[in-house]
Amino acid sequence: MTKALTAIKNNTGNHKSTPLTVSAWFFLRPQRNSPVMEKLKKEETIELRRRHIGESCKLFFKTSPLKILRAAGQYMYDENGTRYLDCINNVAHVGHCHPDVVKAGTEQMAVLNTNSRFLHDNIVHLAERLTKTMPSKLSVCYLVNSGSEANDLALRLAKAHTKGTDVIVMDHAYHGHLVSLIDISPYKFNMPGGEGKMDWVHVAPCPDVYRGKYTDKTHPGEDMGLLYANEVKALIDGAHKQGRKISAFFAESLQSCGGQIILPPNYLRNVYKYVHEAGGICVADEVQVGFGRVGDPYWAFQLQGDDIVPDIVTMGKPMGNGHPVAAVLTTKEVAQSFTDTGIEYFNTYGGNPVSCAIASAVMDVIEKEGLVQHAREVGNYLQDRLGELQKKHQIIGDVRGVGLFVGVDLVKSRETREPATSEAQHVIYRLKESHILLSSDGPYRNVLKFKPPMVFSKEDVDFVIKCLDSVFSEMEDDPLILSLTCTAASAKVTNGESSLGAAKGNASNGDIEDDTPKKKLKLC
Ligand SMILES: Cc1ncc(COP(=O)(O)O)c(C=O)c1O
Repeated sequence: MTKALTAIKNNTGNHKSTPLTVSAWFFLRPQRNSPVMEKLKKEETIELRRRHIGESCKLFFKTSPLKILRAAGQYMYDENGTRYLDCINNVAHVGHCHPDVVKAGTEQMAVLNTNSRFLHDNIVHLAERLTKTMPSKLSVCYLVNSGSEANDLALRLAKAHTKGTDVIVMDHAYHGHLVSLIDISPYKFNMPGGEGKMDWVHVAPCPDVYRGKYTDKTHPGEDMGLLYANEVKALIDGAHKQGRKISAFFAESLQSCGGQIILPPNYLRNVYKYVHEAGGICVADEVQVGFGRVGDPYWAFQLQGDDIVPDIVTMGKPMGNGHPVAAVLTTKEVAQSFTDTGIEYFNTYGGNPVSCAIASAVMDVIEKEGLVQHAREVGNYLQDRLGELQKKHQIIGDVRGVGLFVGVDLVKSRETREPATSEAQHVIYRLKESHILLSSDGPYRNVLKFKPPMVFSKEDVDFVIKCLDSVFSEMEDDPLILSLTCTAASAKVTNGESSLGAAKGNASNGDIEDDTPKKKLKLC
């Protein structure tokens, strides 16, 4: 052991005269399989949290929250060392605590961290690298700290470039937690207590071909992309009639909070055409779905065709594998309009050398470990296995997805497609008992959503499928079992009449599950 390390472990020695080397810091980090000590007993953590953390900051599993002490790959470990399979966390993109990412961050942190007003190689390398993954028009990069900051900047860029005021978004969209973004997030502003829709915001129907305005059932064989795009055109025309000017069309390239929605072919092609004709620009929010999650291409908007080129792309979550780093990519023309406003863009932490080193390391790992291809293979396998379950269990109405972005729409009846909300909550609760973390989303919270770390394996798929099979069988054998676990909140939302019903009562960025188990059930 080095002198520095011994000194620190024993809490002796003069740290100033014995600078800690990078390798020493690396050595000190909790090892993957070593026990990590709790600082507080779980009840004490709960009590302190209750007292000092704002109640709006929700926990997964409200009544029996998990205390996670460490994580590696696709697994998380609680205070007792119990391992949970993580099917939710698209932030830990290349696997929790990936050693290469940790190393890149710690090494850079030991040398320099400062703002982007100094020249540094990390920021320009990262910017160049990100632009190389994009259509060549998107050549200018702004580094920020979160998906919300990225989208807020995108709004400013759009307004500066178009001089427009109005924004078109998709129903059920969530684009971030800043005031500007709550305004363009129906998932939030349509809640009880939300401020409702602003005049400058126009909400287009979510292009959900399973339970949206136009479905495969009501419009078989029709060009669904065009039908839904024409709804955007109608909004543009309506805005023009009122003398308003469109600034941007803002959309996730696959809608996550809307219930794992895959945009129908031709949707973006037509929408982008209409928006450009109206003088607006198009923003692709890739905060959840970028960086190869869809299993080739690298960005989800590219699924709609090589000719689809947004004017702005925003990204975040997976970019730092848990470290806060995000970005906005745009064209020279849009960036020039922003520069022409004369207002400097300064962001204290955006583009700092540590964040950039981490983001570059994430991209290295994606490449080195072939994770894009892996996401495709494992994602296809997951969808195939879910398809087998669908043949066996009537509750599965629809299985949809690309790569490791997969949704399972649970229904009370395949005929009516009535959402099975309570059932979805029950499934999530039962899976938790088998140490699997899964969440649900969509306006009715009846869509089980898979967005695991990209290192998720076929063995993990087999395990989840086996447990899902048991839970569905158990529900078929004993429908009353639901009453043991379903929550009052979720039970409320079962009629499928209001597109806002569930979201209004429960929306939580799709990442929070309530559970109020009334009786301990045996594991599946
Ligand atoms: C699609 C989308 N955009 C933006 C955001 C905001 O990102 P952040 O929480 O990093 O601010 C989120 C977060 O959930 C998101 O899902």
